[in-house]
Amino acid sequence: MPDSAAKAAYADVADRLERATALPRTAFADPAVFAAEVEQVLKAGWLPVARESALAQPGDYRAVDLLDTPLVATRDADGQLHVLSRVCRHRGMPVVEGEGNAKALTCPYHLWRYGLDGRLAAAPGMEQSTLFDREQCRLPAVRTDRWGGWLFANLDGTAAPLAPQLTALEARLADVDPASLVTADIIDLDSPWNWKLMVENFLESYHHIGPHAASLQQTNPGLGTWVRDTGALSTVLENPPVDGDHPPFVVAAIFPLTLMFFTEGPARLGVWYELDRITHQAFRLRIHLLADPQIAAVPEFVAEYRAQVLAVHNEDIPACEGVQQGVLSPLYTPGPLSHLEAALWRFHRYLQARM
Ligand code: FES
Ligand SMILES: [Fe+2]
Repeated sequence: MPDSAAKAAYADVADRLERATALPRTAFADPAVFAAEVEQVLKAGWLPVARESALAQPGDYRAVDLLDTPLVATRDADGQLHVLSRVCRHRGMPVVEGEGNAKALTCPYHLWRYGLDGRLAAAPGMEQSTLFDREQCRLPAVRTDRWGGWLFANLDGTAAPLAPQLTALEARLADVDPASLVTADIIDLDSPWNWKLMVENFLESYHHIGPHAASLQQTNPGLGTWVRDTGALSTVLENPPVDGDHPPFVVAAIFPLTLMFFTEGPARLGVWYELDRITHQAFRLRIHLLADPQIAAVPEFVAEYRAQVLAVHNEDIPACEGVQQGVLSPLYTPGPLSHLEAALWRFHRYLQARM
């Protein structure tokens, strides 16, 4: 029974941080737990599918692979944003890949042509079918919401609207103004570890003292970080600098998997860790480099920022791969969490509530 396995995996999440532990082996090893997470957490939540700045013009589209559901985010001719299934209503071919701008989405198999609002505009050679009804052959739309410059999709249609649940996060990030940042570049990385390990790695800076000893620890020491309570759907991790010569940065998450980072110095920069093609033990990580539009327009600066972000992520990869191997060991037992890992406990509480 998937449900009872999932319930058991999260049964021991503590109600107090002082008693919190890491997740048990089953939370990572049991396919039934992953199946329950897909239905009760991922499909039931708001998942980010695009930056609105990537869909600025009518005709802009971006294909995304959320779990088992190929989607396309679009801006139609009237300027409306949509998240649509991109599975052709004929025989199931994905009608588009990647991103770009188009007047219509034309399936490459038999050239059925869809508007960016999902309506079927034309289908050659279908006049003899008594079943064919152009009006009925629309690409199904997925429920959407918007916040902070992101377009979100909710696959099962049950999630409550985002904005009322994010007022504390919104207030904290008012100066950062995430909506004003644009994607300057994207780094694609196949990531062979469970999606929750990426969330956990992102949400604590305790490990600055380990993998980032020569980088982030020098500027924003792990033991000085602290977690801000912004309600049940989000969390914030504050990273004060070592001295006045370095800027603070802030890490934040909207559960289950919107992961964001913003510097708070003179250069307005950020990062969005997008997780797509999520399977039980792997996903594709797309690191979006977010920047003030003026900075994003300077290729040398973007290249330098890309190198910096990649260098830090390369320090995280051995940790994520190592923990993935470790938590699958029959001899792994979950250890106690530090107060510096309060955001992990908040994430676990979120998961527990949905299981
Ligand atoms: S599968 Fe798309 S047109 Fe045939
Ligand atoms: Fe890290």
